[in-house]
Amino acid sequence: MAAKWLKDTVFYEIYPQSFYDTNGDGIGDFNGIIEKLDYIKGLGCNALWINPCFDSPFKDAGYDVRDYKKVASRYGTNADLYRLFGEAHRKGIRVFLDLVPGHTSEEHEWFRQSQKQEKNEYSNRYIWTDHWFKPAKGLNYVGGESERSGTYVLNFFKCQPALNYGFLNPTESWQLPVDHPDVVATVEALKDIMRFWLDHGCDGFRVDMAMSLVKNDDDKKTGTSAVWRNVREMLDKEYPDAAMVSEWSDPPVALRAGYDMDFYLNMPGNGYSTLMRDYEMHPDDDRSYFKKDGNGDISRFLDQYVKWYEDTKDIGYISMLTCNHDTTRPRYTLSPHELKIAYAFLFTMPGVPFLYYGDEIGMRYLDIPTKEGGYTRTGSRTPMQWNREKNLGFSTGCEDALYLPVDHADDAPTVADQENDPDSLLNTVKELLALRHREADLQADAPFTVLCADRGAPLVYKRGSLTVALNPTEKEAAADVPVKGEILYRIGKDAALGDRIVVPAQSFVIVR
Ligand code: GLC
Ligand code: CA
Repeated sequence: MAAKWLKDTVFYEIYPQSFYDTNGDGIGDFNGIIEKLDYIKGLGCNALWINPCFDSPFKDAGYDVRDYKKVASRYGTNADLYRLFGEAHRKGIRVFLDLVPGHTSEEHEWFRQSQKQEKNEYSNRYIWTDHWFKPAKGLNYVGGESERSGTYVLNFFKCQPALNYGFLNPTESWQLPVDHPDVVATVEALKDIMRFWLDHGCDGFRVDMAMSLVKNDDDKKTGTSAVWRNVREMLDKEYPDAAMVSEWSDPPVALRAGYDMDFYLNMPGNGYSTLMRDYEMHPDDDRSYFKKDGNGDISRFLDQYVKWYEDTKDIGYISMLTCNHDTTRPRYTLSPHELKIAYAFLFTMPGVPFLYYGDEIGMRYLDIPTKEGGYTRTGSRTPMQWNREKNLGFSTGCEDALYLPVDHADDAPTVADQENDPDSLLNTVKELLALRHREADLQADAPFTVLCADRGAPLVYKRGSLTVALNPTEKEAAADVPVKGEILYRIGKDAALGDRIVVPAQSFVIVR
């Protein structure tokens, strides 16, 4: 069962280095987040997910943790982060940190110890073969970097050695079973990190590569899921209000493993990708549902989503997201008006939605060189655009010192400009989120039923007693379903209600 407070929660994802810089060094910081809490609250978000903010050599933007219990000095001090928890709570905002359980930085002290030839407490904290020339077959591994004779397994980049959660059915003498004491010690170390932050006021975690723990665990239902159920038991007992969201994108498995929420991530060809990022699969023929000239086929999304939803609605939540730090911003291909309809859909779906910083103003994806292992992801990680002042209000520092360049386009969207425009994307987001908080039927738990998903017709669905209808295309569309009542909210032009509903081009409506 998911934490109760999630039912009326909307998350805001903050990439801390790019949000708001208060000391002019060109890098966002905790004090910057504290200063912007009222902005976040005003948006209608009442929870934060802050990307990794821990001590790190930043070869993967902080997903290579060197010390789990110490924040990176570029963001401030541990005391600043504790103050952020306190200030956020005073405003009714919960805070998630990013937990990276599957790997550390190669500079983590555990790994330094593990690399030693002489056996010690950390020898088995990572996955090593028993000879410098022996490969870890079927896994990515590195040899030749350590005093120890063995090769070690990686979880992602070369800088990220995999922590040892054991093998489901070990086939080699160096593979430890999941109940080996040294493997159990890894799980205990993970719980210790979680307790540390929860004790200091954090409310839960976004969990990085949550499916990556136990090796040879093909469907993840046995080994990796057992680790998370063990963690869940600890939380239920010691921190009953704490919650977790997984980077897994397999809700039937992740939610049964004890997660409150699982992200529906963008993976080329999956249901979510067909909403806004079909170009990744079809570069010359982008048929994304929310493009006005897309082909209006929502079934590619619903076929996957509805199955998951039906299977998991009593266990936990599927989290829809506008974007994240790994994904191309939706503004890359969608106009501000197309974004309004896409967001209206995302924010009226069941589960717990996530808004990625800057998407509320339609920040662009920038074509810029890689930074800290970002590669093509870098263009979605640029500084928040607050106003028309220096560096678009992100930092008073000199331009060369900025973590990443700001958008130099003359029409780069900013918060200040959009606050003054009643018709802006920002104000639409605010209205949608305010409505969601007002109407229980738009929140996480209210039932979701599709009334019409035919090609060429509007998408019509029920949330509790409310009916939502939308038509992202350039042509008026009608559905043979009776929709009567009062229009609660609309984008574009008013729909015609009655025994059938007619939704004008590029319009969205909620009917009570
Ligand atoms: C996750 C993160 C990504 C990171 C990777 C390795 O996918 O979202 O940014 O590079 O894990 O930790
Ligand atoms: Ca700073």
